Amino acid sequence: MLNIAIEAAKDAGKFLKQNLGKVREINLKSGQERNLVTEIDKKSEELIIGIIRKHFPTHDILAEESGSEHGKKSDFRWIIDPLDGTTNFTHGLPIFCVSIGLEHKGEIVAGVIYDPNLDELFSAEKGRGAFLNGKRLRVSQTPLLKNSLMVTGFPYNVTDNPDNCIQHFVNFLMAAQAVRRMGSAAIDLAYVAASRYDGFWEVNLNAWDMAAGVLLIREAGGKVTGFTGEEIDIYGKRVVASNGLIHDEMIGLILKAK
Ligand code: IPD
Ligand code: CA
Ligand code: CA
Repeated sequence: MLNIAIEAAKDAGKFLKQNLGKVREINLKSGQERNLVTEIDKKSEELIIGIIRKHFPTHDILAEESGSEHGKKSDFRWIIDPLDGTTNFTHGLPIFCVSIGLEHKGEIVAGVIYDPNLDELFSAEKGRGAFLNGKRLRVSQTPLLKNSLMVTGFPYNVTDNPDNCIQHFVNFLMAAQAVRRMGSAAIDLAYVAASRYDGFWEVNLNAWDMAAGVLLIREAGGKVTGFTGEEIDIYGKRVVASNGLIHDEMIGLILKAK
């Protein structure tokens, strides 16, 4: 199954790269002011689902642009973001990826994030480690928040989101070494696993943004929770991810904003 996820993520990633700068249709998702979708998001998703369906026709699928299928029942569920970083993509900014996670009986057992611009494939299988282009990953060893490089993102509904995301940003800016904002939550998570960032938090994410990245971080020895340190629920919107060592400091700072 991991191999199929890799095949699908690579094919879709190559398709995205070939189409950078060639978007023809940019639409707003219904009822939302800033949340974009293009014909490229949709075609990438069709491509991925086509590959998964061919190999596992009975598995359930939850994909960003087509939603989840009703009436199907399988222990396996593929969770797909066909283009994470759509806003970057529509501006020709080469920071985006494909993210595919696989749940078995509600537990994430495999995950793949592919960045076609750097040709970087992040992959993980439960209990078997996390890898970048075949090389084993470990989270960073930075012990303190003040020495940490952090990353976050802002929700599309930032103007009326009551979830304190701007206050969190200000607090981390003051407490950490530096804070970045890349525009692709899946890449943010993969980079925590790869020790490029020490920590990440965000509000209002969806399961397709997080599924693969959560497993990558766990398998790289890091920690992923909700905002009060509780076990992560990928359907629960909010995430705190870290190298483990700065996790309590992160949660403390987040709770301060409430
Ligand atoms: C978005 C990106 C972004 C995050 C948003 C996500 P999309 O996904 O991951 O970094 O801040 O909350 O919705 O729409 O580009 O797939
Ligand atoms: Ca996304
Ligand atoms: Ca997307």
